[in-house]
Amino acid sequence: MKKVNVAIIGTKFMGKAHSNAWTSAPKFFSLGLTPVLKVACGQDKKGTKEFAKNWGWEETTTNWKKVIERSDIDIIDICTPTYLHKDIVLAAAKNGKQIFCEKPVALNFAEAREMYEAAEKAGVLHYLNHNYRRTPAITFAKQLIEQGKLGTIFHWRGAYLQDWITDPNFPLTWHLQKKYSGAGPHYDLNSHSVDLARYLIGEVEAVSAILKTFVTERPLPGKDAGTFKSGSAASEMGEVTVDDAAFMVAEFENGALGSFEASRFASGRKNYNYFEIYGSKGSLTFNLERMNELEFLNLEDPADEQGFRTILVTNSTHPYIGAWWPPGHIIGYEHEFTHAVADFLTALQKGTALTPNLYDGMKDMQVLEAAILSSTTGRKVSVTEVK
Ligand SMILES: NC(=O)c1ccc[n+]([C@@H]2O[C@H](COP(=O)([O-])OP(=O)(O)OC[C@H]3O[C@@H](n4cnc5c(N)ncnc54)[C@H](O)[C@@H]3O)[C@@H](O)[C@H]2O)c1
Repeated sequence: MKKVNVAIIGTKFMGKAHSNAWTSAPKFFSLGLTPVLKVACGQDKKGTKEFAKNWGWEETTTNWKKVIERSDIDIIDICTPTYLHKDIVLAAAKNGKQIFCEKPVALNFAEAREMYEAAEKAGVLHYLNHNYRRTPAITFAKQLIEQGKLGTIFHWRGAYLQDWITDPNFPLTWHLQKKYSGAGPHYDLNSHSVDLARYLIGEVEAVSAILKTFVTERPLPGKDAGTFKSGSAASEMGEVTVDDAAFMVAEFENGALGSFEASRFASGRKNYNYFEIYGSKGSLTFNLERMNELEFLNLEDPADEQGFRTILVTNSTHPYIGAWWPPGHIIGYEHEFTHAVADFLTALQKGTALTPNLYDGMKDMQVLEAAILSSTTGRKVSVTEVK
């Protein structure tokens, strides 16, 4: 079987999730390509070596530019903070590498467009990791919608809530600095929700939004601080330059209305990625914290038997599940990444495109940036105003 060499850039939270996926995808899915975990690239030499040893990456480096120039590397997997995505994608496209990139795509719409155009011009495969599209219950929801089971869709009601920075002493990690992250939960979490809403409902036409920062100064981070990890902190303070919460309402092109809530201040909510969809023939609800289940209401059931039913999305006939366990033997968060890698390698072998990709990242970013404009001007903004 043909081998493809992968280089991963970024070795922490997403580095770990992606390494697991590159390892498990060819074991559970029958694929025409075998990924070789060739090079791991991180900022700190010792930590990167430990990471590589644990996950089976053959070599390590701290210089991402040199990795991209290597002729033996086929795929660049980007797991770095958001501000680096653009430069890495542009370099990867220039060197003809296939691109597997974390979300949110970039710091703004202009960057996202440049990345999309560069990848298209280079003719490489590009994928943006909005992993939730590959949660079996969500892929199944898409199938139900495409079969017309919900009829005309009236509402999207989404919330993506976390609580990992409610403590004002949580340090000023890269997530809380606009120059590194672009925005707070509005990008981090709403990018996932907007991507899912575009996937399940359709394109967004206009938005109104309010973004809010509750804690405006935080201690500078120690070396061990990171995503969901306070680690140590200095006594010196720095300014928070992103939102802590973002609420947005939207009109879709097809006439549906949507609401989106994103927060890192929702005490008690850990990774509460939740949505409801209401249509003329039925409704759906999903909660990532019960990710194997989908709630479905069918208005074609006899009136006195109607109500939300819980579908346990673990049958071999449900999306992706045939590759895993018998019915009821539930799967988890990491499986979404494995599904993404399996689909990516299949698309690469067949020469087909894959979604979501840098085009979706650009469209998601246009909606998110329109919301920022709405929050600063206090008016409804059409997404096409963002150019
Ligand atoms: N798909 C998801 O659900 C999901 C979840 C969390 C994070 N993310 C996204 O993944 C990306 C990474 O987030 P994370 O939580 O893994 O961050 P992290 O802070 O845990 O890890 C970042 C990694 O990037 C490396 N890095 C930073 N600058 C570098 C450089 N110049 N050269 C080489 N390596 C460098 C760091 O050494 C570290 O290994 C972000 O864009 C984030 O939004 C996605």
